[in-house]
Parts: sequence; C-alpha cells; structure tokens
Amino acid sequence: GPVLSSDMKYKDCSPLQTFVSAKRKINDIFVEISDFVQETAKYVEAIDRDEKIIHKPEVELVSGYVSKVRAIQDILSRNHMKVVFFGRTSNGKSSVINAMLRDKVLPSGIGHTTNCFLQVEGSDNGESYLVTEASPEKQNVKSVSNLAHALCEEKLNENELVRVFWPRDKCLLLRDDVVLVDSPGIDVTPNLDDWIDKHCLDADVFVLVVNAESTLMVTEKNFFHKVSTKLSKPNIFILNNRWDASASEPEFLEQVRAQHTERAVDFLTKELKVCSAKEAKERIFFVSAKEVLQARLQEQKGQQLHSGALAEGFPTRYLEFQGFEEKFEECISKSAIQTKFHQHSKRGKLVADDVKNVMETVHERAQQQKTELMNKKKEVNDKLNHTEQQVQLITIEMKKKIHHMVEDVEEKVSKALYE
Ligand code: GTP
Ligand code: MG
Repeated sequence: GPVLSSDMKYKDCSPLQTFVSAKRKINDIFVEISDFVQETAKYVEAIDRDEKIIHKPEVELVSGYVSKVRAIQDILSRNHMKVVFFGRTSNGKSSVINAMLRDKVLPSGIGHTTNCFLQVEGSDNGESYLVTEASPEKQNVKSVSNLAHALCEEKLNENELVRVFWPRDKCLLLRDDVVLVDSPGIDVTPNLDDWIDKHCLDADVFVLVVNAESTLMVTEKNFFHKVSTKLSKPNIFILNNRWDASASEPEFLEQVRAQHTERAVDFLTKELKVCSAKEAKERIFFVSAKEVLQARLQEQKGQQLHSGALAEGFPTRYLEFQGFEEKFEECISKSAIQTKFHQHSKRGKLVADDVKNVMETVHERAQQQKTELMNKKKEVNDKLNHTEQQVQLITIEMKKKIHHMVEDVEEKVSKALYE
C-alpha cells in the first residue's frame, strides 16, 4: 500500500503563505498610501485659504481620503480566509474540522451535537476562550468538554455565532489566518436563508460533508442551490466522509465510489454549474475524518501515524485527506486574495492617483501664480522707474525754475534799490 509520511514538515511552503504574504504586502502598501494622504491633507489644509491655488472640493477630497484609507486599513488588517462546513447532522462536520486542526477543538459525537455556528479562529496570546454574540466577554475554554459545557449553558439560537479562539501556534491553519466555521446540521433548521445571509456571504470556500454510507441528500443540494443564487460560483468541496465504512464491504467499494462521484460531479456541474467536470473531480474526496484525527493525535504523542486499530485501506484514505487539504489550501488562498484584496488594491491605486492629481493641479496653479506675480512685479518696477525719471526731470525743471525765479527776484530787488 502507499507509504504515509508526516505532513507537518511540508506546511511551511503551503499556498496559505501566499495569502499571508499578500496580506502583509497590501497592508504595507496601505501604510504608505495612508502616510502620503495624511501628509497631503496637512499640506492642502494649510494652504486652504488661498483660493487661487486650491479649491474647496479639492481640500475636501484629500481630507476625506484620510478616514477612508483608515477604514480600508482596518478591514485589511482583519481579513482572513474563511471556510464554512455544511452537511446533515452527524455526517462528521465537527470531526473534519478537528482533523484539519489536528486537535479535538470542537465537540463531536453521536446525535445532534453542534447547536449553533462555531467559528474557530486564532488567538494571539496563547489563550483559548470563546465569545458569544450576547456577551462579548471572554469565557475561558480549557478543553472540549469545557467548551461543550459552556455551549450547553448558553441558551443558544442555532443561527447564533460563537467565536472560539484557539492558540495560533497550536494549528498551522489558524497561524495562517484561516477561520473555520462549523454549523448545525442543515436538516434540523428551516432558516437556511438567514444562515446564508449571516454566515456565508463572505466565505471563500464551502465544504459539504456528506455521509458516504448513504448519499448526497436533497436537503444538502437545496442548501447549495440557495447559496449559489446569492454568490456567483461558490467554491465547493465535497467530502464523502465515513469512507472507512467501505472497508467492511470491499467488493462494492469501487462501485459505490463511482456512483457517489457521478452524483457529486453532476450536482456541481449540471445542477449548480459552478465548475467543469474536470474541476469537479478535483473537488470530491473519499475520507474518514475520524481516522485522520485519531492518527494525527497518535503522531503528536510520538507514535506512528498508523498505529492503533484502523480499518483496511487507511493509508489510501489518509492520503486522500491530505490531497483534499492541499487542494483546499490552494483554493482558499487564491479565492481570498481575489475577493479580499483585489478591490482594495484597485481602490488604493485610485486614491493615490486622485491625491497625486490634486497635488499636480495645485503645483501648476502655484506655478502660474508665480509667473503672474513676476510679470506684475516687472510692470510695477517699470512704472516706478518711469516715475522716478519723471520726478528727476521735474526736480531739475523745478531747480531751474527756482533759480530763474531767484535771479528774477534779485534782479527786481536790485533794480528797485538802485532806481
Ligand atoms: P452535528 O454537529 O450533530 O451536526 O454532527 P457533525 O456533522 O458535526 O458530526 P460529528 O463530527 O459530531 O460526528 C458524529 C459522529 O460520527 C461522531 O461520533 C464521530 O466520531 C463519528 N464520525 C465522524 N467522522 C467519522 C468517520 O469518518 N468514520 C466513522 N466511522 N465515524 C465518524
Ligand atoms: Mg458538529
């Protein structure tokens, strides 16, 4: 059979890192944009009084961008990759999430366990706690049973969101800004529209957890029909979980697999029309979440991945789960970069361009003002020179006149004296 290797060491070059570094880059760029806009705003506000150089709407535009850029920065710094898990009760949604997180983070079990939306995200300070919509206070969570208990204590609405914060350094997915949302079974609620509006519109990826022992059900299909009316081409993965059950009926394994695959491909391509048949085949997996979680917990205890009691065919199923994780990471990273950064990077460029244009206009006008002033100065200078000359001329005239007058007077006086 296939050889299993630990997948921990490959994770550093995971596609999730592309999102993480894109996020870092776009945040850095927005710091620069923000500095530029703030500096410009300060400048234009300072020259605000000079109507000839800057106009009111220009000042308002630049000043307005300060808060707009800050709002975008706020969104950008909080952006993450979001995956939501759906499926009927007991198909193993919570188990899949735990397997991916390599830890028993969420309560799972027989019967209807998950009774509200549970969003698992990374906490920075190594703490584990939960926050409900009703009370934003941190409630400590020490263990799964603790979490399950806390969730039972709360009178929770199935539509409600409980955020579970789990130490980032415990799970690579959380470290890399993936947020995982667990949901109650889609067969136990009639409020699917509310669910979609409240929890799904910003999802990058949906994972439908199907029970491989039965098949894709109408309730599951209907849910995604609703989703695809609100989101164009949602990214959907289909996990046929509990595939370990097939070990007990090996003679039907290939047949069942082919049947499930055909149904799932038809659903994605012909009914939802979200992808091509080739793409659909890369979105459908046959796994056992329970086994994967068990194996990973063993491995962390320092034991072999496949020690413990495992059904026939475990290595193949384990590899398939890894295959799912790989495709999932590629998909979520790409989708999140596209949906979360594309618009903002366009917007950032627009802001920078607008501000630059204002500054160029201001510069041009200032330049014009300068030339005009210089011309005026020259005119004034010329006038002054002329006047000065006039004055000089007049002065000379006057001097002459006075001289004559004096002479005249002297003459008249001496005449009068000697006559
Ligand atoms: P709800 O929260 O009630 O909607 O259920 P869920 O979809 O979250 O299912 P959960 O993960 O709680 O799993 C239900 C039961 O199925 C648990 O007892 C799991 O241990 C078991 N289970 C989950 N995955 C597998 C699997 O791959 N194989 C087998 N044999 N059992 C599984
Ligand atoms: Mg559950």
